[in-house]
Amino acid sequence: MIKIAPSILSADFAKLGSEIQDIDAAGADYVHIDAMDGHFVPNLTIGPLIVEAIRPVTKLPLDVHLMLDNPDQYIAEFAKAGADIISVHVEACTHLHRTIQLIKEQGVKAGVVLNPATPVQSVVPILQDVDLVLQMSVNPGFGGQQFIHSVLGNIRELAAYSKNAGYSFEIEVDGGVNPQTAQACIDAGANVLVAGSAVFGKADRYQAIQELRNAQSE
Ligand code: DX5
Ligand code: ZN
Repeated sequence: MIKIAPSILSADFAKLGSEIQDIDAAGADYVHIDAMDGHFVPNLTIGPLIVEAIRPVTKLPLDVHLMLDNPDQYIAEFAKAGADIISVHVEACTHLHRTIQLIKEQGVKAGVVLNPATPVQSVVPILQDVDLVLQMSVNPGFGGQQFIHSVLGNIRELAAYSKNAGYSFEIEVDGGVNPQTAQACIDAGANVLVAGSAVFGKADRYQAIQELRNAQSE
């Protein structure tokens, strides 16, 4: 079953509560929340305060994607605010096992994220410890960018590691996912699709989510 995680980065922030209720009613599986620090990525977005404000609005899992230079410093705060999944970039973690451990100690699921140019090899040592691997399909920082097709090879590689070793981590893909690119992601082995503009940019969110979920190869 393919899960859809709309990214609220493309939502109307003046009415964030009703935007989230709308995607919840439309069948979303996760609420994807992009936290950016202006250092690791060239944009500033959401902190724990907003996560805390969102928490009572929906029962959907809050899937928090940390694009921060020093994630360790904020993990406990995001967990306390109500995150269900916290993912950190391998490129931002000097001591990755320690960071993943820190996330798990908060009682939330732990994910690791790869930028499009980061080799899968860099996360292989942590695959047995994570609940989710998030493969970026754009360079993080902004919604509405073009899907980078070379990441499909990474998704295939991750799916092969999972199958061969019997791991159970989810494979999530983030950036430029729309009904056209979704198909290739699913074929490559992804089971969670993040979509910002392809969901919040459409008036009918139910239809937008259905189109992504049902994208399949001929
Ligand atoms: C990019 C973020 C994404 C972004 C996706 O840095 O991590 O989650 O919101 O937006 P779309 O789907 O519009 O590419
Ligand atoms: Zn994201």
